[in-house]
Amino acid sequence: MSMQQDVRRLTAPDLRARKGGEPIVSLTAYHAHTARLADKYCDFLLVGDSLGMVMHGLETTVPVTLDMMILQGLAVIRGSQRALVVVDMPFGTYEASKEQAFLSAARVMKETGCGAIKLEGGRRMADTIRFLVERGVPVMGHIGLTPQSINTIGSFRAQGREEKDWGPIEDDARAVADAGAFSMVIEAVAEPLARRITRAVAVPTIGIGASPACDGQILVLEDMLGLSPRVPKFVKRFGELGPSIERAIAGYAGEVRARTFPGPEHVYGMKAAKDRKEGTR
Ligand code: KIV
Repeated sequence: MSMQQDVRRLTAPDLRARKGGEPIVSLTAYHAHTARLADKYCDFLLVGDSLGMVMHGLETTVPVTLDMMILQGLAVIRGSQRALVVVDMPFGTYEASKEQAFLSAARVMKETGCGAIKLEGGRRMADTIRFLVERGVPVMGHIGLTPQSINTIGSFRAQGREEKDWGPIEDDARAVADAGAFSMVIEAVAEPLARRITRAVAVPTIGIGASPACDGQILVLEDMLGLSPRVPKFVKRFGELGPSIERAIAGYAGEVRARTFPGPEHVYGMKAAKDRKEGTR
């Protein structure tokens, strides 16, 4: 008899249908254990390419590879049961052509079992999004601040803070939705513009630094847990795990040095003759 519980995983169409309804909740996850914890509360888990900065200490997301995304995507799938898992396409794996994007996305889907991919870019990615969706790849868009473009935009700063800059960002949102994306992340965009885009497009908008006007919210898990040393203005720290992890490590180091850990309760004794015969632990 299988001990596995029959839990249906949310799909891209499920999320698409949530437009204008109860806010969509999402966090990033890169590991099986954090995925397991977040799965209960989140509608989707994003295996973001932010893992390059958060897990690997990189300055930007640019060096992240498809292999890194696949390894962590697989871990998140293993750790979760219910949430849709969306895996980010890293820089250089989808921009060159629609065909390149399809081959990379198909690899991610086959090798992780994720339910959707996310890619950055608005109008310039519309043809690619359409090509992928027509071939069975659910796509989440990502507009506003697109961190993979850091080397051309120069800095991670909020977008659309002057009305004169709204047009291109709104056009990006419409292009991504019209191309068939089931949802889109809007990153670091001024509130009135995020509200306007959310009203303008028929698919859910997921805000990160884009105000409560969006249809849902996402944060980088390590940022909201207080594990990241520096966080953007839009992050609220819902926990302060950094100091509490450091206290635990200091306690462990102190006890090892004082020879009070391991204690008798953590030590294996010899098996009694009776147990040896019965093969008990
Ligand atoms: O990589 C990431 O974590 C993301 C979120 C910031 C949306 O793209």
